[in-house]
Amino acid sequence: MIKFTIQHIKDFKHSKKPFSTITAYDYTSAQIVDEAQIPLILVGDSASMMIYGYNTTIPISMEEMLFIVRAVTRGAKHSLVVADMPFLSYQPSIEETLNNAGLFIKQGRASAVKIEGGTHIAKHVKALVDNGIPVLGHVGLTPQSYNQLSGYKIQGKNPNDAQKIINDSISLQEAGAFGVVLECIPDNLADKITKQLDIPTIGIGSGKKCDGQIQVFHDVLGYGSSRPPKHAMQYDNMYAKVLKLIKKYKADIENK
Ligand code: KIV
Repeated sequence: MIKFTIQHIKDFKHSKKPFSTITAYDYTSAQIVDEAQIPLILVGDSASMMIYGYNTTIPISMEEMLFIVRAVTRGAKHSLVVADMPFLSYQPSIEETLNNAGLFIKQGRASAVKIEGGTHIAKHVKALVDNGIPVLGHVGLTPQSYNQLSGYKIQGKNPNDAQKIINDSISLQEAGAFGVVLECIPDNLADKITKQLDIPTIGIGSGKKCDGQIQVFHDVLGYGSSRPPKHAMQYDNMYAKVLKLIKKYKADIENK
């Protein structure tokens, strides 16, 4: 099995080979994803909801992320692990960005970080890349801006907003990002950005035309207690299945 690198991810774009990526938040799920030969695992800040039970991605801390990044990198021997920088771990200054990303790389053993935002955060992306830390960008619906966006909504529906997302994506590419997540933008806009960029786009809720796709582990398995978003590619209802098995175990003990 090959060990995926940043170059492999970039090469998917040039070979026009669609690729899958997924989140993982612990050792066992990372092992499963790794064995399935998924090229890239994102330790997403969606762990805020999926692992820690908060209701948005806003509260999760660096410390909470670092714990799970370490577990995932212990389980992933081949997939490239990208650590998601939590809210306010990079926005305040370039120095904080470098220090916190450095913790994910040095202590967490991740290979890259992901940060939300476009042109306004491009200087931070460049500083990371200049210092040897690969960056995956993230534009469109940026969940850490939940309050500013007044909820989770499709972004880029009007021409001005669409142009801003295009400009943001170009700024990230120019700053040295190795790829860009396009979250919840219209399919035709995602297609346009994908055609315009030299780096791969990784879509979620943005149609089929992106170079790669990303999904949340719990959404794919139907493992979360709440209903996954409409764009989730849910293949089963593992929550119900696991509940049934745990109830069976309980009954077996009670029946001696
Ligand atoms: O945190 C996360 O899971 C993400 C993906 C949805 C892109 O940012």
